[in-house]
Amino acid sequence: MKHVMPVIEYWRDRIEKHPLHSWLVTPERNVRPEQKLWFALYFTNFIMYFRELNQYHISYGNDRRLDRQREAISAHADEDMTHSRMFMRDLRTLGWNEDLGWRPSELYYWLFLSEVNESLRRRVTQITKLVIEAEHPAVRFAVVEAIEACGNALFRHTDQLAREWTAATGKELIYWGAFHLARETGHAIEDDDEFEEFKKAELTEEQREAARRRAIRIFELIDEQNSDMLRLAQETISQGGFAYRRGIHAAPPKWLPTIPGPEVFDFNFWPDTDAHPSQKEIQDTWRRCREALRNSKLMKFFKADTLKEAKAKVRFAVMYSATDTCGTPTVYKYMLPYPIPVDARERAINRLSRRFGKRADMLFVDWQSLGLDECLDWPISRTLEFIYLDRATDSHRDTRGIITYHIDVTLDPVLRYWTIATLKGLTEAYAKASRHLADWVVKDTGADLPYMTLRLHPDEMKVKLENDPEADDIQFWRLEVSEKTAREGVALVTGIYEQILARLDAMVESWDRNDYPEVFRMLDDVRP
Ligand SMILES: [Fe+2]
Ligand SMILES: [Fe+2]
Repeated sequence: MKHVMPVIEYWRDRIEKHPLHSWLVTPERNVRPEQKLWFALYFTNFIMYFRELNQYHISYGNDRRLDRQREAISAHADEDMTHSRMFMRDLRTLGWNEDLGWRPSELYYWLFLSEVNESLRRRVTQITKLVIEAEHPAVRFAVVEAIEACGNALFRHTDQLAREWTAATGKELIYWGAFHLARETGHAIEDDDEFEEFKKAELTEEQREAARRRAIRIFELIDEQNSDMLRLAQETISQGGFAYRRGIHAAPPKWLPTIPGPEVFDFNFWPDTDAHPSQKEIQDTWRRCREALRNSKLMKFFKADTLKEAKAKVRFAVMYSATDTCGTPTVYKYMLPYPIPVDARERAINRLSRRFGKRADMLFVDWQSLGLDECLDWPISRTLEFIYLDRATDSHRDTRGIITYHIDVTLDPVLRYWTIATLKGLTEAYAKASRHLADWVVKDTGADLPYMTLRLHPDEMKVKLENDPEADDIQFWRLEVSEKTAREGVALVTGIYEQILARLDAMVESWDRNDYPEVFRMLDDVRP
């Protein structure tokens, strides 16, 4: 580790001098301190996701008891996962709910589909990958140390802004000010002795390289993100606020041209011929799970006695799937593909990834037809809570955590294939059930519900891919795999299936508990 720490220290100095930081603390005429904090709107995905990053990926979860190192890293993650709530409180204290006035669909679009936050989403995915791939505690320590160094540098500078703001308004900011900073020491481990132990750890050459490379990559990603946020915040101030960008980047479509489904799979995708004997067990598991989901008694949620109940349930289902649906493009763009594919198998995964994750924008048409913004009437802090913090949506985050883990923990294309096939196979079973309900609402109200009725984009579905016969010929389920891969494949299919079932269960429970009575409001406002 003594070869890794100097690199971290070099970068710690370098990030300290980032122009974002000096800009934050340099007073400017006509710029109020809280306007400089506007950069946070270009960082919200990371700030709020940080809870999940810590809970599911930095923490070792049940494995934390294996040794003191894992325990120390996990203990730090326990603390850090609580910080998103402080951000929420400051957002309200700063009056951003009222100042922005964004409806839920606008915030969703801004966070998950807008062009302006595209690089942020890519970087959050990359940072998550770097954490998950760093399985060894010493390597993960280096990665987290890099993240913490950047956090500490940022919060020391926002603290100055927070003080100015408190002096002017008499109100306290806990996330941007001293309270949070006291919990951000700039290190991955709080305890001095344990920290020293990490610093003295003996690494193999391979681990040392991994630690060094990953820590540098984290610094580079945050350095780039800081530069983007500086520019974006300056532009926003120059534009006099978010009104202009709201009109472009927080503007979900109200209508889209669509054609009826079903989706055509005229390429090798479904594992519908006999698998190679070495993969037979994965295929059997996949078939069993799909069948079990179809026959699950939970599917009775998608039955209704009255049109009113049908409308409310469709609203509920749209709300409940929004975060996952909006995240799908990011999964297919940045998580599943290989940045530098080295063989036909990896190219084949990249080509599959290009074909999927295309329907997310349609969800916004359903959302608005169903009058969800009006009946929810949530300010942005409430929408953020729903996405990232509500107890009722815990199962969403568990699902994201498990899927992300299965994707990032391996580079094996066969396993990536099974992840895609499982996700597609299970969502198909689920979507078919919810579709009946949506069809009914469309028939009786004339509402436009392209997402829930499984309609397709007219041409986007025909993705223009150049010829690559070698990649296109691959039927992943017919390849020979090692016993270990077969075991991991079974675990992956079962893990994702069980989680999707748990999530469905949580949705039905949440409906029964009446967690969101808002969906019953203004039911006559479902519009064509
Ligand atoms: Fe924090
Ligand atoms: Fe931290």
